[in-house]
Amino acid sequence: MNLRSLRSFAALALAAALVTPASAHGHDRPPVPAKPLLIGHRGASGYVPEHTLTSYWLAIEQGADFVEPDLVITKDGVLVARHENAIAILNADGTVREATTDVVDRPEFADRKTTKSIDGTAITGWFVEDFTLAELKTLRARERLPQVRPANARFDGQFEIPTFEEVLQLVARANDGRRGKRPVGVYPETKHPSYFQGIGQPLEEPLVRLLHRYGYTGKNAPVIIQSFETQNLRKLARLTRVPLAQLLNGSGKPYDFVLSGDPRTYADLAKPAGLADIATYAQGVGVNTNLMIPLVNGRLGTPTTLVADAHQAGLVVHGWTFRAENAFLPNEFDAGADPAAYGDLAGQIHAFLRLGMDGFFTDQPFLGRQAIDSFK
Ligand code: G3P
Ligand code: CA
Repeated sequence: MNLRSLRSFAALALAAALVTPASAHGHDRPPVPAKPLLIGHRGASGYVPEHTLTSYWLAIEQGADFVEPDLVITKDGVLVARHENAIAILNADGTVREATTDVVDRPEFADRKTTKSIDGTAITGWFVEDFTLAELKTLRARERLPQVRPANARFDGQFEIPTFEEVLQLVARANDGRRGKRPVGVYPETKHPSYFQGIGQPLEEPLVRLLHRYGYTGKNAPVIIQSFETQNLRKLARLTRVPLAQLLNGSGKPYDFVLSGDPRTYADLAKPAGLADIATYAQGVGVNTNLMIPLVNGRLGTPTTLVADAHQAGLVVHGWTFRAENAFLPNEFDAGADPAAYGDLAGQIHAFLRLGMDGFFTDQPFLGRQAIDSFK
């Protein structure tokens, strides 16, 4: 890096009153967060069905600094917020494995059921890119994890699939009411970019067009674009000056590396040479918690040097995903044996903040804000 990019990112966060640039401390360090960045993962998805306007609104109300929409694109080229392009996935026996909409119960769309290879995995179900926006708007959101979050299922059938533009409008309205305070930011993720490029529906141009139209134009704009792939981030770095974050998973490799034959894995990218390469096009990394503190027998093990190495490369580090339910917590933070019960999320978050993690994605922004406030 790419000191210019580092300063840009510091300036972004400074605009959000979150970061003190290293130069202010008189030594050569990456941005030092005055307060870690709180990112509402899929909104406030611990409390209401994910990727709905209600979920994003609730995240803002609960103190999120940024809200996180995952983005896919409709048949008629409109970016919408869904965790996956598959909006209902079937098992081999025809039972529902996962659904974020009620499409499986909509006979008018029965003929859209199909099997596709998405990033090398065969998936049978219904896919956003086979629906126009008008058709998608007739569907209603469902809780994706009803076993772990049964209370959220009471909202099934109530909410539409939002467009990314509607998310930006929601954030703009929230910021209208926050004049004089730091603006809430948006942290969109491009989902399966190589796949969408391959079907002639690239995500990057419509994303940048929309961001620029809503005023997210420069290096200080309160937006960070994230992706698990690398080539589309490099392309985005040419299309826009807004900050970018490379996502790093706990296993596997970016799918564009699979396609291009690049032998590197996410583990390679998490090493100093990989991080230095990322710093040529991005300002941050969004990392699986296991890359910072691996689990050993279900409990937090010995921290890696990833956070320090990323800082050395001039990258900020945002961890994912912090969830309050026992089902997702390291065992030492569990409270009882009920997978759906809440354990000590703040305890887990504090362990990562002590490492120097600069921000985190959480399904429970209310508890995330409490964890930040109680961190010493
Ligand atoms: O983008 C951060 C985190 O959300 C990455 O994983 O699959 O939950 O989008 P996913
Ligand atoms: Ca995401």
